[in-house]
Amino acid sequence: MWLERCVKIPFFCLVLICNIGIGVHNIAIGVHAASSSSQDSQPYRTGYHFQPPKNWINDPNGPMYFNGVYHLFYQYNPFGPLWGNISWGHSISHDLVNWFILQPALSPKDPYDIGGCFSGSTTILPGPTRPRPVILYTGQDVNGSQVQNIAFPKNLSDPFLKDWVKWSGNPFLTPVNDIKNDKFRDPSTAWKGPDGKWRMVIGGEINGHGTALLYHSKDGFNWTRSEKPLHYSSETSMWECPDFYPVSYVGINGLDTSFQGNNISHVLKASYNNHEYYVIGTYDPNMDQFVVITNDFKVSNTQFQYDYGRFYASKSFYDSAKQRRVAWGWVNEGDSESDAVNKGWSGLQSFPRSIWLSDTRKQLVQWPVKEIEKLRTKQVSIPNREVKGGTHVEVPGITASQADVEVSFKLTNLNGTELIDSDESDPQLLCTQKNVSVGGSFGPFGLLILTSTNMTEQTAVFFRVFKGPNKFHVLMCSDQSRSSIAPQVDKSIYGAFVDIDPLHDKITLRSLIDHSIVESFGGEGLTCITARVYPKLAINDQAKLYVFNYGTKSVTLSSLNAWSMNKAQIVPMV
Ligand code: FRU
Repeated sequence: MWLERCVKIPFFCLVLICNIGIGVHNIAIGVHAASSSSQDSQPYRTGYHFQPPKNWINDPNGPMYFNGVYHLFYQYNPFGPLWGNISWGHSISHDLVNWFILQPALSPKDPYDIGGCFSGSTTILPGPTRPRPVILYTGQDVNGSQVQNIAFPKNLSDPFLKDWVKWSGNPFLTPVNDIKNDKFRDPSTAWKGPDGKWRMVIGGEINGHGTALLYHSKDGFNWTRSEKPLHYSSETSMWECPDFYPVSYVGINGLDTSFQGNNISHVLKASYNNHEYYVIGTYDPNMDQFVVITNDFKVSNTQFQYDYGRFYASKSFYDSAKQRRVAWGWVNEGDSESDAVNKGWSGLQSFPRSIWLSDTRKQLVQWPVKEIEKLRTKQVSIPNREVKGGTHVEVPGITASQADVEVSFKLTNLNGTELIDSDESDPQLLCTQKNVSVGGSFGPFGLLILTSTNMTEQTAVFFRVFKGPNKFHVLMCSDQSRSSIAPQVDKSIYGAFVDIDPLHDKITLRSLIDHSIVESFGGEGLTCITARVYPKLAINDQAKLYVFNYGTKSVTLSSLNAWSMNKAQIVPMV
């Protein structure tokens, strides 16, 4: 994606007006929510998704939990709302919800990163006396080549690790031999093998094929390339931001990236074609061999993706405090560059998601981290009821532009289900052909989100059930075609299947609604779709929420719980 981004347009500097020199554990104290007037003039700023007060952000980088504090770094332009001057923005939190924004940890000032401090990861190394985190990141050097660099905290006794020092040995890797100088970036978190050596992967393209280049190191500083990559695909080009980690067969707990043992699989994630594709496989750390057991990487709407909407360049980490793996993704804008300049900002981070292996061991499950619940305020529930075909029901009494909604449907029989010719249909195409205005038998049913009073604006997130030659299919769509009356914003329709049995399983949907972002989790988190929307009418307290069923068959609404959400505290620390 980086090539597509424009160069910097200088913009006015960040003015830190907040003056609250308090510790991280006091984050929730003494800071007030943005006034409604700022929300009125900036209807697309979010209430509880991570974004700095202004300027450009892209990929999440190097998330970690260290000495009781969560750290999130991100690609950041301190000087403007478009891509450029790429630095590592740095924020800290004690709950993954409320954040203090610190000064950038890395700025592009040295010959080996003057063109930008690009994406990378953190690894917590043992250190001479106590564990110490290191950042591995890509720098674009004076010649425009992508090289790999290291940075570490200046003072390990600083609880917030505010200052980072670049290693005197930088760059520690440069693009040589078959590695092209602009296709070598985004080192992963390192993991330790049974021989005591560290391993990590770097995204690249070798002979036109997307590749996770594998490296080894005894000390985490001096790295050598392994003869064979960890994995590659002849079906895709350049891989960005590879992530590689173990997942457990049992329960929802996460595993440390270096975990070795039985009853685990490994996940390899690669970013390409604007999406986060992943495969699951078996990793032998002795031979460094990774054998994929799911469908292998390709460009396809049926290939497993973390998210089938707007969600890219994600990064996960192992949260040792809560024994879980947590992932973030960059959610970019669907409006124009001049809109970004007018708004003064561009880009969001998704809400952090716990991520684990599904019971079938064939795919991943994602769910907003539990801490989100502390933002829930007023709750509205609709008890079990029938939703007849061709109807909608308002969910009244919540702040529908800043909400968390969980809804669950049940179909009592599937007589009269629409047929599709193939069990391999393209879900995105199906959602586009059968958008919310196309009636079916079972579906479309779901939520009408950010809906204007006259219903001209609405973001429909819904399901349809089909019968293919061999099985039933539950299709999940996020339809932005009517999200805004503004003509120039993106109006994509996203779609994916949810791997559940509609005869026996409830069809569930959770949507995190936050002004200009709708993150939806279908099938208890088996299928996720994130959308960006720019309503003109359905803003702030003008937005409404409905449950709807525009199919001909009735569906049972088993339960609906919706919460107004408080604003998270995301403020500069000065
Ligand atoms: C992904 C990406 C990375 C690169 C960074 C630059 O969005 O292109 O590959 O390191 O962004 O900002």
